[in-house]
Amino acid sequence: MTEQREQWASRWGFILATIGSAVGLGNIWRFSYAMGVNGGSTFLIIYLISVLLLGFPIMLIEFSIGRRAQADAVESFKKIAPRTKWFIAGGIGVLAAFLILTFYGVIGGWSLRYTAEYLTGGIAGNSERFFQEFISSPVSPIVWQFIFMAITISIVFIGVQKGIELSSKWMMPILSLLLLGLAAYSLTLGGAEEALRFMFQPDWEAFANPNVYLAAMGQAFFSLSLGMGIMLTYGSYLSPSIRLTSNAAIVIVFDTLFALISGLVIFPAVFAFGLDPAEGAGLVFIVLPTIFEALGGIGVVIGVAFFVLLTLAALSSSISLLEVSTSYFIRKFRWSRKKVAVAAGLIIFLIGIPSSLSQGAVDITIFGESFLDFVDMFTGNVMLPISALIAVIFVGWTWKKEEIFEHSDIKEASWGPVLIFLLKFIAPVAILIILAFGVLNW
Ligand code: PHE
Ligand code: NA
Repeated sequence: MTEQREQWASRWGFILATIGSAVGLGNIWRFSYAMGVNGGSTFLIIYLISVLLLGFPIMLIEFSIGRRAQADAVESFKKIAPRTKWFIAGGIGVLAAFLILTFYGVIGGWSLRYTAEYLTGGIAGNSERFFQEFISSPVSPIVWQFIFMAITISIVFIGVQKGIELSSKWMMPILSLLLLGLAAYSLTLGGAEEALRFMFQPDWEAFANPNVYLAAMGQAFFSLSLGMGIMLTYGSYLSPSIRLTSNAAIVIVFDTLFALISGLVIFPAVFAFGLDPAEGAGLVFIVLPTIFEALGGIGVVIGVAFFVLLTLAALSSSISLLEVSTSYFIRKFRWSRKKVAVAAGLIIFLIGIPSSLSQGAVDITIFGESFLDFVDMFTGNVMLPISALIAVIFVGWTWKKEEIFEHSDIKEASWGPVLIFLLKFIAPVAILIILAFGVLNW
């Protein structure tokens, strides 16, 4: 059976799709909320270290496993190491992607609703009350979640990868410019000093808190779309002529800048308007409307632009999330792409309903957290690191040094030994320790 495997049209097609998956609600919504809840600067420092020491090597090996095996998240492990259990890494990843989309769809629905709200004149008055009333309604957020999921399903259904590639081409630059402009404005609102202190002045005591490490590491995996087999799958569409290292670096730099700049939009405004940085999942949906209102008439226009782009960024990520389950189930059940996309998408929507309801309509808590927060934290902070841990041990300890160099394109690079050291020792040990302490503490 020699099936012709799809390939990216160009190097830029690949980079854009990868950035499209990486940049999403994670950079703006989840980053600011996790950073706010976990005390700011300490979280940020550990996050940046995780991105560098864990994110980079793990993205690189996901690309290389995929390109080497030319198969999906589970099959790749089975192909490279037949009759072993390494494929469990891929299995956890597929399951994580499935579960992440259940709540990602809820937040995607929120941003869709806010887009509609700004298209029809914006949100005036108390944005916190507006937000609380919206998310605690038993019907409205679920309708918006459904619409968001329906759009995601139809794109995966049609399989218009070209459309995604093309839209990322202009979408990401505009969103970046908009964020930069908003950051510049937000910094003038009077909360800049406090915000910069919150974001950049280390709070040494917080380094003793295992939760902060767990949250920061989880955020790094979530934001870079790692531990889910997405980067692996994207790598499998690659031709050997593309250098993996520089691509991984570009995606990582871009994703990280996005998160940092969003922080510079959110936190100065948080302090200027006397809001609470530890507000939680609603942070951006309360802070941004406050900024837009302060901007006056132009605020509505910027609000439209902002939420349209946020929704599109969310869509390019949710598509990649649904694509993981879809490609897996297509192979597993031998169903058609269309059938799988609709079935998987609908089931994901249904499982997401309790997440939506847990925001105030019904009291659904697990370990003291709302159902949505629990699924979010468990998938991002526990499942992704475990899946990545297995993949890292797989490559670090079962591939020969030469194999690692060859498949991750670092033949001539002088930092080859550094990568080996990260893969064999630093990454597994760090992930294990952070997971162990974090989960015990939880
Ligand atoms: N990385 C995306 C974000 O930051 C979320 C995501 C996670 C997308 C996992 C795909 C896979 O929003
Ligand atoms: Na991201």
